[in-house]
Amino acid sequence: MDVSNHSVVPTFVFLGLSNSWGIQLLLFFFSSMFYVASLMGNLLIVFSVTYDPHLHSPMYFLLANLSFLDLGGCSVATPRMIYDLFRKHKAISFEGCITQIFFIHAIGDTEMVLLTAMAFDRYIAICKPLHYLTIMSPQMCILILITSWILGFIHSVAQLAFVVDLPFCGPNILDSFYCDLPQLIKLACTDTNRLEFIVTANSGLVSVGSCFILIISYIFILVTVQKHSSSGLSKALSTLSAHVTVVVLFFGPLIFFYTWPFPSSHLDKFLAIFDAVLTPFLNPVIYTFRNKEMKAAMKKLCHQFVNYRKLS
Ligand SMILES: *[C@@H]1O[C@H](CO)[C@@H](O)[C@H](O)[C@H]1NC(C)=O
Repeated sequence: MDVSNHSVVPTFVFLGLSNSWGIQLLLFFFSSMFYVASLMGNLLIVFSVTYDPHLHSPMYFLLANLSFLDLGGCSVATPRMIYDLFRKHKAISFEGCITQIFFIHAIGDTEMVLLTAMAFDRYIAICKPLHYLTIMSPQMCILILITSWILGFIHSVAQLAFVVDLPFCGPNILDSFYCDLPQLIKLACTDTNRLEFIVTANSGLVSVGSCFILIISYIFILVTVQKHSSSGLSKALSTLSAHVTVVVLFFGPLIFFYTWPFPSSHLDKFLAIFDAVLTPFLNPVIYTFRNKEMKAAMKKLCHQFVNYRKLS
């Protein structure tokens, strides 16, 4: 028999989040609730922006695209995690695992680029209002979108290129509820120290790097605005606070995940749940509760929906 060369472990098994019945029930309840809320909230944003002509501006297009990505992002791991909660044997195939890793990294990275583009959009709107529509033209928006998709795709393929050919022959237990790339690499029956480092450094650099760019651009906006007028400053602050909140909640757990020097699987799992379940839900909440136009559009959409239901 020749087992030296090829993978003989076709499936992986998740340890899951907890064995306690009470905690499983609690997780089931909260994850399902937040998952459904994320789907509804983000769908509502996509529909409002698409159907309300008042919201046809670059800022809302980018926001709708972020929501669109969130719809995908929250559906990569969460439904499976909820389904797995009460399963004894939480198995996933190698292909399923690779698919999860691909979409987690592709969507995550695309969202980071999009968040950076949204900061750029706010910079132009606040600091160069007269040139806003010429700079943020429809072509520019399309260019931003295509760039973000391509960068996300490249990052994800680059990460996967390291694992698809790894030989798996030994243990197949992942202490998680989704396919975590560094953990998967650890399972390969070959020396993986360097690979683990490269993969972690890659994701770490991307998230720390784009967070850094974002913080710099916000500081830049505030400094520019403050030089020109002090009334502009408070307006800029209120616009930016929503962005900064999203950025902190999006990157906080990620950066902690990649830079915290004392690995703890409990903490990692907790942060992963936070990122998978809560973050996609926060975008709609933060962007809409603070925004009159968005709220009006959503109300209108809901009224139309109710009227439509009454008529039919
Ligand atoms: C994404 O942005 C593009 C270009 O601005 C826009 O045409 C499109 O409707 C947006 N997508 C969604 C899902 O809103």
